[in-house]
Amino acid sequence: MMMTSRKPAPSSLVVNGVPLTIRPIAGEDTVRLMTLHAGLSERTVYQRFFGVLPQLSVGQAERFTHVDGVDRVALVAEAAAGHLVAVGRYDRLPPDGHAAEIAVVVADDYQHHGLGTLLVTMLRSHAHAAGVTEFVAEVLSDNRDMQDAFARAGLVSRTTHDHGVAHLVMPLS
Ligand SMILES: CC(C)(COP(=O)(O)OP(=O)(O)OC[C@H]1O[C@@H](n2cnc3c(N)ncnc32)[C@H](O)[C@@H]1OP(=O)(O)O)[C@@H](O)C(=O)NCCC(=O)NCCS
Repeated sequence: MMMTSRKPAPSSLVVNGVPLTIRPIAGEDTVRLMTLHAGLSERTVYQRFFGVLPQLSVGQAERFTHVDGVDRVALVAEAAAGHLVAVGRYDRLPPDGHAAEIAVVVADDYQHHGLGTLLVTMLRSHAHAAGVTEFVAEVLSDNRDMQDAFARAGLVSRTTHDHGVAHLVMPLS
């Protein structure tokens, strides 16, 4: 895609008394991402990946951390101590990249403090500026937390359900 990479600007907030910086993911985050994933509860992993995945392989983690900032964009929330507590991403979809699939995961101890909503809001803003016209997402139908976070970020979704999975289409206008 002939578009210039525009990195989202870093942003700061405090959750659980821990100062966090939200910044674009980097290739150097591979081990940190594997550590974040390994510390997630089974429930959180299941909600994100719809299956059991106790560890990310190095290859899986490298794919997540190596993004181009155009077709694949990801933000992480990093604690001052250097560990990651959340990641949100979108990947543009074929054929023309106008739609992008968004996914978010927040470490269990940091959920319900507005982090998921903030990541969606920042990704939405970046994607809109970069010409993405709609986000799509697949979430478990009973995953109200994710669907509510999308709504709080200002996204209105058309939702269809199929075998316990909600398919959300959310225009960015
Ligand atoms: C879904 C998920 C990303 C949401 O992230 P989150 O950080 O917990 O979301 P938010 O904090 O923005 O919103 C969750 C709740 O916190 C509340 N909240 C928001 N800001 C808050 C604040 N500053 N203080 C206290 N609570 C707050 C919201 O009102 C919301 O309440 P509700 O659950 O009663 O609706 C997170 O739960 C998660 O990682 N789940 C597992 C992975 C997953 O489901 N991914 C989706 C598939 S892609």
